[in-house]
Amino acid sequence: MSFLNQVVLVTGAGSGLGEAIALHFAKLSARLSLVDVDSKSLNKSADNCEKVSKAKVFRITADLTKLEDVQNVVEITKKQYGKIDVVVNCAGICRSGGILDSGLMDSYDAIVSINLRAIVAMTSTVAPILAESKGNIVNISSVLGNIHAGNTLMYNTVKAGLSYFTKSAALELAPEGVRVNAVLPGSTRTNLLKNFGRSQAESDAFFKYCEKITPLKRIVTPEEVASTVAFLASEKAAGITGVNYVMDAGLSLRAEKP
Ligand SMILES: NC(=O)c1ccc[n+]([C@@H]2O[C@H](COP(=O)([O-])OP(=O)(O)OC[C@H]3O[C@@H](n4cnc5c(N)ncnc54)[C@H](O)[C@@H]3O)[C@@H](O)[C@H]2O)c1
Repeated sequence: MSFLNQVVLVTGAGSGLGEAIALHFAKLSARLSLVDVDSKSLNKSADNCEKVSKAKVFRITADLTKLEDVQNVVEITKKQYGKIDVVVNCAGICRSGGILDSGLMDSYDAIVSINLRAIVAMTSTVAPILAESKGNIVNISSVLGNIHAGNTLMYNTVKAGLSYFTKSAALELAPEGVRVNAVLPGSTRTNLLKNFGRSQAESDAFFKYCEKITPLKRIVTPEEVASTVAFLASEKAAGITGVNYVMDAGLSLRAEKP
């Protein structure tokens, strides 16, 4: 598989899944536009991609909760490369809490602004450009949008919304020749938990627990998620749109949820 001469924009590219996805596309010779709110981690990730691809990587520090930042990301990527072929919406956060917890609305507002609103903004801004290139979008949703698990009600609710949006966007953009799909990972070792205040020990203990409860007794790796994203973005998946592709080592098959 090769993405030679294809322009791939990855959000949340400074860490975790976005970082792995960027590196994977670099290995596949894509021309990269990498976006993150954290410029330090963005530059580290982009430097690693440049080492692999031997090509300059375009870096944009942006807060995608702001509409003007989303519009600027699309505009300057188009200006830099003349087109955009693939957009991977990976930037995201997690917060815990249920209906009876204080701070529910703060947690909802924070999650929805990046995990869904930013993707709606990106999709509507970039759709005309993808219509020109007959390109596609891959969203990073979560299996938690399909099952009730964890103490993360607002996160799960917003991911369910993203899975719905993925299908609707696929239907609306199909006449333009633009595909829209999503990957729904189960737990994956990244900085997601650390980035909402969990210690390294707590984060490690959580992932160990996840390994125990999945039918396959493992969790998926960021590299496995990245290769699925690349497959869905590639010509090999030309007939696939509106798919919410679950990668959870069988977790959601269990009758009794954790
Ligand atoms: N790690 C998991 O277990 C898991 C499972 C399912 C889905 N996901 C999803 O994968 C995506 C990536 O998460 P991750 O696990 O790699 O976490 P991570 O914390 O390692 O990476 C998230 C990245 O998004 C960036 N980001 C956050 N807010 C931003 C903003 N406003 N603007 C621009 N960039 C922003 C962060 O700076 C960070 O680099 C998220 O959407 C998450 O919900 C993760």
